[in-house]
Amino acid sequence: MSIFLSKALAGMQPYVPGEQPQDKKYIKLNTNESPFPPCAGAAAAAAAQAAELNLYSDPDGMVLRRAAGSRYGLGAGNVCFGNGSDENLFHLFFAYLRGAGAAFADVTYGLYPVLCSALGIDCKTVPLKADFTIDIADYAAITAPVVIANPNAQTGIYLKPEQIEKLILQNRQRFVIIDEAYIDFGGQSCAPLVKKYNNLAVVQTMSKSRSLAGARVGFTFACEEIISELEGVRRSLNPYNINRMSMAAAISSLEDEDYFARCTRAVQSVRQYTADKLKKMGFEVLPSLANFLLCRHTKMCGRGLYEGLKERGVLVRHFSQGRIDDFIRVTIGTQDQMDAFLAGAAQVLAACGD
Ligand SMILES: Cc1ncc(COP(=O)(O)O)c(C=O)c1O
Repeated sequence: MSIFLSKALAGMQPYVPGEQPQDKKYIKLNTNESPFPPCAGAAAAAAAQAAELNLYSDPDGMVLRRAAGSRYGLGAGNVCFGNGSDENLFHLFFAYLRGAGAAFADVTYGLYPVLCSALGIDCKTVPLKADFTIDIADYAAITAPVVIANPNAQTGIYLKPEQIEKLILQNRQRFVIIDEAYIDFGGQSCAPLVKKYNNLAVVQTMSKSRSLAGARVGFTFACEEIISELEGVRRSLNPYNINRMSMAAAISSLEDEDYFARCTRAVQSVRQYTADKLKKMGFEVLPSLANFLLCRHTKMCGRGLYEGLKERGVLVRHFSQGRIDDFIRVTIGTQDQMDAFLAGAAQVLAACGD
């Protein structure tokens, strides 16, 4: 550590993203990207901006904000955009959790504890139940802001809006962030609830269901007061946080609901197919409403499955974190990709004597 680094960052544990191999071609099922390309309009809209990269992007992004909000009956004043929803989360933690603390599940998105450590936020983890579900009652006595990924990251398990509403109502003085990165694969968004509750912020991303992970576009939905505060933060830190190509691609994607519906439906049907096959092979598969499955097999540890699959050209995600150490997380790809994964998994299990 250099003598110059701020003392506040002395204990920072950087976030470790999933592998993005640049050398070899894998069947890549490790970072919950979409297996489908962006809609044709998005690619064309981004390309059209290339010749104007000498100019800054639009710092207000009203067209993008209106398009994102209108899906939920919200106006531009209820929407703030981020350079990927990771940036939306950063803005929220920066503005509302510093000094107030945070509480989230012990198994959830790994960025939450990292942001807390980077921003000096005290955080408390709330254990999931033995079946990996979240019980809202476990949050009743917590006064610090609560962050919940819904469907939850790593498990894919979903809470209905009624349960989220109960969480919000437990304490109207407590701020609640619902991270809906995976909501479009079968869940119902809580975004409309921001019209009713001023202690709620809902975060979404275009990285998964909109096939725009490389464009880096995310949103926060909240009441107008919260959004105007977040806009102040965003403009102070980086007013041009979404580049011209990404903004154009995002707007175009929001205009193509048909392609979006086809892609998300395909993921849901391949998810069901994959879960059924895995269960037939003896895997335990958590009930997921996300674009991934968390599964384990009694015959082999999670690390072994991950390594065996990687040797066979299939990249999945393994977390060496206590409670989910024996699982692998598999992104839902195309039917062909999932067949290759299933064949690879069968070989790995056979090689270990299953
Ligand atoms: C729960 C959750 N939230 C947010 C993100 C961040 O997505 P992005 O920054 O690509 O919008 C991810 C990415 O995997 C995630 O799993």
